Amino acid sequence: MESLNVLLIGSGGREHALAWSISKSPLLGNLYIAPGNPGTNDLGVNVDLDVNNFEEVAEFCEATDIHLVVVGPEQPLVDGITDYLEDEGIKVFGPSKNAAQLEGSKSFAKAIMEEYDIPTASYTTFNRHEWSQAEEYINQNETYPLVLKADGLAAGKGVFVCDNREEAMEALAMMNDDVNLSSASYRIVIEEFLSGEEVSLFAICDGETARIIMHAQDHKRIGDGDKGLNTGGMGAYAPTPLLDQDGLNQIDETIIKPMMAAMIEEGLPYKGILYCGLMMTDQGPKVIEFNCRFGDPECQVMLPAIKSDLLELLMTCVNGKLSYASLDIDTGFYTGVVIASKGYPQVYEKGKKIVGLDMLSEDVLVFQSGTYRTDNGDLLTSGGRVLCVVGRGNTLRESISKTYAEVEKIDFENIYYRRDIGAKGLRRVEQP
Ligand code: AMP
Ligand code: GLY
Repeated sequence: MESLNVLLIGSGGREHALAWSISKSPLLGNLYIAPGNPGTNDLGVNVDLDVNNFEEVAEFCEATDIHLVVVGPEQPLVDGITDYLEDEGIKVFGPSKNAAQLEGSKSFAKAIMEEYDIPTASYTTFNRHEWSQAEEYINQNETYPLVLKADGLAAGKGVFVCDNREEAMEALAMMNDDVNLSSASYRIVIEEFLSGEEVSLFAICDGETARIIMHAQDHKRIGDGDKGLNTGGMGAYAPTPLLDQDGLNQIDETIIKPMMAAMIEEGLPYKGILYCGLMMTDQGPKVIEFNCRFGDPECQVMLPAIKSDLLELLMTCVNGKLSYASLDIDTGFYTGVVIASKGYPQVYEKGKKIVGLDMLSEDVLVFQSGTYRTDNGDLLTSGGRVLCVVGRGNTLRESISKTYAEVEKIDFENIYYRRDIGAKGLRRVEQP
C-alpha cells in the first residue's frame, strides 16, 4: 500500500497522544499537525493553519497530498469541517456537522435518546423566549439536586448541578447574563440528577458499525477527593473496574447499537468517535452526554492500550469497513496524571521552565499540552494543563504507582497535580 499522509487537527494532550499513536504506523507517510504543540512537532510537522478556515485547510490538504484528516477537538466538527473537506474529496475521521450535533446541542441529543428509548435522565427544554416558564418550572420543582445545562458548546462551563431552588435560579440568571454562556444558552435543558459513578466510554463508528474501544474514568475536579472547581480533566485511568464484559455488552445493546440505528434512521449516519459520558446508576448505565471526539485526558490513557495499528483502524473506519478491522486491546491498566500550573482553572502564571523530563523511565509516556519550546531548546509552561504522564501496569495499583514515581521527577515553579488519580478505582478493585 502507498504510504498515507495525515493531517491531525488540534493542539492538546489528546492530539499529542493521537500523533504518537499514528506515528507508530508503518503505513504513515508524512504527519502534519495543525496547529500542534512542541510534543507533536517531535513526531511530525506542526503547521500554522487557521483550522477554522476550512478553505485554507483544504488547500493545504491538496498541496501536501493528504490522505486522511483526523480531527481532535469538537469545535471544527460542530462547525462542519468534515462536510467541507469531504465535498472537496478529502477523507476525514470525524462526524458530519449534523451528526456532531450530538455534542453541539444537548437538546438534540436528548430528543434522539427519548425517541429511541436510550437510557438517560428525564428532561425538559426551554427556549430563550420561554425564560419565565423556566423560572416557573424551577419554582414548582421539589426534587433536588436539579441539573441545568446550556444547550450549545460552552467549553465545559455550561452545566450546573443545583442543590436547591436558589442555586437553580442563580444558574438560570447566569445562563442569561454571562457573556460567555449566553450564546450557548439560546435554549436550556433542565434534567433529572443521576447519582452514581461516571465512566467515559468510547466507540469507533463507521456510520453503520460501532465497536467499543475502551472505557476510562476522568477526574474533573481540581482537588483530591473530587473537591473544588471543574477543570478540563486532571487525570484518568483505563480500563475502569465499573464495567466487565457483561456490562459492556449491555451498553452495546442498550446504547451504542440503538444510537447507530437512530442516527441512520434520522439520515445522519454517525462516523468517528462516539464518546458516551455514562452514569452507572442503580438502574444500570444511563447517558449523561455524548461527545463527538476522544476525551482529554481519556485519550492519553486509551491510545497506549490499542495494540492494533491506529492509522489502519481509522482508515478502515473512514472507508466504511470497520466490521473487518482488527481491534486488539492490551489487558493492562493505564493511569494518566495531568501536571498543571498552580491556580488553574483560574489565574496562573506561564513561562516556567520544565525540568526532569530527561530523568524519566522509558516505560512512561509524556504527552504535552500547555508547553512552549524556546529557541535554545528549553521547554516552558504555556497553559493551565501542561503535561500528562501515563504509565502502564499489570494491575491498576501498579500503573498508579509507576506513573506517580515518574511524575515526582518533573518540576517547575508552581507545579500542581492531583495525588489521587485512580484511587477511586483502586478502592473498588481492592474492597469490592
Ligand atoms: P456534561 O457536560 O453534560 O457531561 O456535564 C458535565 C458534568 O456534570 C458531568 O460529567 C457530570 O458530572 C455532571 N452532570 C451532568 N448531567 C448530570 C446529571 N443528569 N446528573 C448528575 N450529574 C450530571
Ligand atoms: N475529559 C472530558 C472531555 O474530554 O470532555
